[in-house]
Amino acid sequence: MKNKNIVLIGFMGVGKGSVARAMVKRSCMVAVDTDDVIESIENRSIKDIFATDGEAYFRALERKTARWLKKSVDNTIISTGGGFFKVPALKKVGKVVLLNAPFDTIYERILTHPDAAKKLKKRPLFQDIDKARALYEERLPQYLKVADMVIDVSNKNVDAIAKEILKKGKKR
Ligand code: S3P
Repeated sequence: MKNKNIVLIGFMGVGKGSVARAMVKRSCMVAVDTDDVIESIENRSIKDIFATDGEAYFRALERKTARWLKKSVDNTIISTGGGFFKVPALKKVGKVVLLNAPFDTIYERILTHPDAAKKLKKRPLFQDIDKARALYEERLPQYLKVADMVIDVSNKNVDAIAKEILKKGKKR
């Protein structure tokens, strides 16, 4: 299969899902979210998966999802969980686009969201701000290393970000 997927990676709360939805409106592509796939396979929330079976079990589900995407999905925008970028098959799933902003910008965006409490509660790795910041700092160089394209999302609305990715993608 000639794989033309766009894989959005980046830290929790950076807006991967919203950007994917904005890209769908501007293109003839559909979108799929890896956390949604995992929640439907398991028929329970990410929060419950972490609480009951732990992170290692969740990471194995991410690898399984990556293999399925690689084999069966084409011409699709794939938004991912913040740790999905570590799956070995990542580069074979599609063009990897990193959405990034400084940690404080991401955190402030979550806090000022009308559903802030819900957004934080559903993310097991965003329960402690110091730990989340350390995770961001540890991951940033790793995100940059795997990305085919890097988009700074600070001070931009989702529609402008979607437009930028699609425009840059065409030039490749
Ligand atoms: C995770 C990010 C979450 C979700 C899980 C683990 C991570 O997705 O996959 O809680 O390791 O960064 P979002 O990036 O959509 O919050």
